[in-house]
Order: sequence, then structure tokens, then C-alpha cells
Amino acid sequence: MYHTTIGKELDQAKALLERGELVAIPTETVYGLAANGLNVAAITRIYDAKNRPQFNPLILHVANLEQAERLVMGMPDVCKRLMQLLSPGPITYLLPKSSLVPDMVTAGSARVAIRIPAHPMALALLEMLDFPLAAPSANPSGYVSPVSTTHVLEGLQGKIPYILDGGNCTIGLESTIVGFEEDKVVIHRLGGISAEQISTITGVEVKTSLAHASPTAPGQLKSHYATSIPLLIGDVIQLVNAFPGKKIGLLLFEQSAALAVEKEILLSPSGSLEEAAAGLFRAMRLLDQSDLDVIIAQRFPNTGIGRAINDRLERAAYKG
Ligand code: TXA
Ligand code: MG
Repeated sequence: MYHTTIGKELDQAKALLERGELVAIPTETVYGLAANGLNVAAITRIYDAKNRPQFNPLILHVANLEQAERLVMGMPDVCKRLMQLLSPGPITYLLPKSSLVPDMVTAGSARVAIRIPAHPMALALLEMLDFPLAAPSANPSGYVSPVSTTHVLEGLQGKIPYILDGGNCTIGLESTIVGFEEDKVVIHRLGGISAEQISTITGVEVKTSLAHASPTAPGQLKSHYATSIPLLIGDVIQLVNAFPGKKIGLLLFEQSAALAVEKEILLSPSGSLEEAAAGLFRAMRLLDQSDLDVIIAQRFPNTGIGRAINDRLERAAYKG
């Protein structure tokens, strides 16, 4: 057991990480549970603290292109172009791994996931280190990702020594994961930057092949981001009517007809998908901590970051 402290001391975070300890770090997407990504003992601590299955690989975080290049065996030109235009930012690249990367990081895969986070504290910390940070989201495996230090504490108190406090995450959804096929960019996980944004900014053709839709990809468990209270997604009025006498929590994008429910959260009164994404996980956690029988979520417009929001809701709702 650790006494978990929350603070803003980069030096303390650095010292702990250099000793192979875990530190929760802020990123613009969600909080990460970081360890020295080249140290197998440290990486093992991540899997233990999260109770994460060992077949689910970890993202390596670096400060810049030079640090990334040591971890991969070559980078297609299209990846360099994306990195120049989109990183630091909410995007992760799947690339052939170099021998420096332990097999435990990639769960045996020949590809390693690399990300340059945009949060200034994460970047400053990464620049101080001479190793990459392996960091999954800082939540117990299977639960909703944390977007504040309070959320990290809720899931990992006593299991880690330090949480680096960088405030609330501004994007609120995990990074978009991309791979490369010839000159095409393939999205494997929808996330903080949308397919439309990637192709508009880079001029590159983008296709989507979600890893959790196919059983061949490692680590993309379908039941994920799950609340403890059952969550259903679909037509709100129909679903509310299906649960007479039950305590219902509503998760809405747009104001719908007044419904007699226990609790209601409107994610973006102004109709902004970005604002809705930033508030999604906080709202899911809030509803999950309320005295409810069921959470009913509206389906979001399936465009831009709305696709990533629907993906998270659908995976939270899955109870197979
Ligand atoms: O925004 C994010 O990506 C956050 C912050 C902390 O950077 N991290 C995050 O990590 O969401 P995690 O572990 O919760 O999700 C990473 C996903 C997992 O589904 C994992 O299976 C996949 O990335 N992944 C990691 N390495 C991979 C690899 N080598 N090949 C295929 N998938 C990989
Ligand atoms: Mg996660």
C-alpha cells in the first residue's frame, strides 16, 4: 500500500519514475498511469495496479520525433507528415517496434503504439526523462477513463505513490489510434481527433478499421468503459418508457422532451460535440455514483468526434 499524494512537482514525478515506480500523469485526453516504458519490472506494476490483462499492450509516450525514432524501425513518410501536423496531440501511431521496446509493452506484437501528448506538464516531464513513458488510462481495467485527479484517486488510491496534478483533461476522450497501409491512414480506435480532422489537416486519405470490431487485434476488449449501473443507448423516450417505476439517469446531447427521471445531464447546451466529449466521462462517473437503476444515453450525431462518443457509449453499454 502506498500513501497516494497529489502534487505538481515534476522533480518528484521524475525521481519516482526513475526508481521504477508508477506516477499518474495528466494528458490532454485522459490521465495516464505512467512507468518507465523500457523497464519490465516497472511495466509489470502498471498491469498489477490496473488489474489489466497482459495481452493488452501499452502506448509509449515521448516528447518529440527524435525520442520516437529510437523506438521504431523506420517511419513511413505519411506518418512523419501526420506527426508534424498533428503531434503533440490526441493521436497515437502504430509503427514497427525497435529492439529497444520490451515485448511486454506491445504484448508480443511487432508494432508499438507511440504518442506525443499535448499537455504541457506531460511534455515537460517527458523532456526531463531519458526513457519513454508507458501509460494506459489511469483507471482499473474496464472502467471509465479518468479526466481529473479525483477520478484517478477513486480508482487507484493506495496503489500508486503520486498523481501529477495537471487539472482537468481538455479533450476528455482517449487518443485516436492510427496505423499505416501503403499511403493510407487506418484508424484503429476512434478518439480525440476525428477522421475528418485528420484528412482535412493532412490531405491524406483516412479509412476506419476498428480493432474491437475484429477479433484478430489484441487488447481491444469490447466490454470497456463500463459503468456499474447498466447503461443503455438509443431512443431516449422509448427507453425511458420501457422502465416504468425505475430510477433513471439521462445522458443527453440535446434537450429532449421533459421526462420524469431521477437525474439528467445535458452534455452540451450549445450543441458542441467537442464540449460534449470533454464532459462525457465525468458525466458517466457522476451518474454511476448516483442512486439509479439504469442510465439511458442519447445517441450522438455520428459525425466528427461524435463517432468517438458513440463508440464509447456503445462499448459501455455492451453487457455480453
Ligand atoms: O489518450 C490515450 O491514448 C491515453 C493517454 C494516457 O495517452 N492512453 C490510453 O491507453 O488510452 P489505454 O491503454 O487505456 O488504451 C490504449 C489502447 C488499448 O486498447 C491497446 O490495446 C491499444 O491502445 N494498443 C496499445 N499498443 C498497441 C499495439 N502495439 N498494437 C495494437 N494496439 C495497441
Ligand atoms: Mg484505457
